[in-house]
Amino acid sequence: MASKFIIPSGVMAERPHTELNQPDAALEGSIRPKKFDEFTGQSKVKERLEIAVDAATQRKEVLDHVLLNGPPGLGKTTLAHIIAQAMNAGLKNTSGPTIEKAGDLAGLLTNLEPGDVLFIDEIHRLQKNIEEYLYPAMEDFKLDIIIDQGPNARSVCINLPRFTLIGATTRSGLLSSPLLSRFPIRERLDYYGADQLRDITQRTAQILEVPIDLEGAGEIARRSRGTPRIANNLLRRVRDYAQVRHDGRITKAIADQGLALLEIDENGLDEMDKRILEAIIHNFEGGPVGLNSLAVAVGEEPDTLEEVYEPYLIMEGYLKRTPQGRAATRLSYDKLGVEATRGPDQHELF
Ligand SMILES: Nc1ncnc2c1ncn2[C@@H]1O[C@H](COP(=O)(O)OP(=O)(O)O)[C@@H](O)[C@H]1O
Ligand SMILES: [Mg+2]
Repeated sequence: MASKFIIPSGVMAERPHTELNQPDAALEGSIRPKKFDEFTGQSKVKERLEIAVDAATQRKEVLDHVLLNGPPGLGKTTLAHIIAQAMNAGLKNTSGPTIEKAGDLAGLLTNLEPGDVLFIDEIHRLQKNIEEYLYPAMEDFKLDIIIDQGPNARSVCINLPRFTLIGATTRSGLLSSPLLSRFPIRERLDYYGADQLRDITQRTAQILEVPIDLEGAGEIARRSRGTPRIANNLLRRVRDYAQVRHDGRITKAIADQGLALLEIDENGLDEMDKRILEAIIHNFEGGPVGLNSLAVAVGEEPDTLEEVYEPYLIMEGYLKRTPQGRAATRLSYDKLGVEATRGPDQHELF
């Protein structure tokens, strides 16, 4: 449903956001890195973005449009904020699904100040007919809109201030090529290594003033599915456990016990990860199975499987992509405690 009320953008910004009074939201804000050098890992991406920001700043230009792609929780929103801050630019936040009609987008665009960053999260969920208004806005900083209907309809062209669009997506495969091509800067975030996640966990612990040792942080990092958001969440749960059941300090043993109580997987796999492996092994005899059949078996969209779940399973060695489809590896049989029925000679993967 379209909103009935038009709220001037400034009004919302001035009013204290009630959500910020909730501990979790406040916490989220305090642990989110604010500058490039607080952002751990993704070093190449970070360096390229920093160079682009510095170059644009030196030339006193706005930054080119940026597309950030990657699985959830890896730092896309965080980077968008860091970029805006580094450019000394205002940031307006929106997301693909909340832009319901062309008028919503027109409202956002015409309210931009020169140099502002417009952040569109989940940009792959933008409706195609709305997306088309973005093309001239991105390319020529113009907005072509049609005013009135029927015989009085006329097209008006509005000049927009120069701005930077930052789009974030978990599913770049769903973006149309005209939209993709209008982002001069495109970066993909990858899962974090255990060392980087350990650093992130330690940094968060320091902000939250939770005593934690290296092994404790390492244990949380190891079970975080390569994802900073998960590491931070697990840290908070383990912190509760350490505080209520022990003296508040997080060691490897405490982290272990706390995570076991939460039934967090030893290797960081989540429910869907496990369902995927189970489906391949139990429904499809270990594979190879085509992406679409697998998607039906686990009740998920093929694109989501491919872009959100598979990369981690492949990186960790649970899954292989072959020309015939997806196949389980020895590691996933071990993981599920299933005896592999096919040996090395019958199954090329073992
Ligand atoms: N590189 C990083 N260093 C430290 N913390 C990070 C990093 N990337 C993400 N985080 C943390 O993880 C959380 C999720 O990141 P976010 O930017 O919201 O992910 P996304 O938008 O990709 O889903 C953030 O609150 C932030 O605190
Ligand atoms: Mg985000």
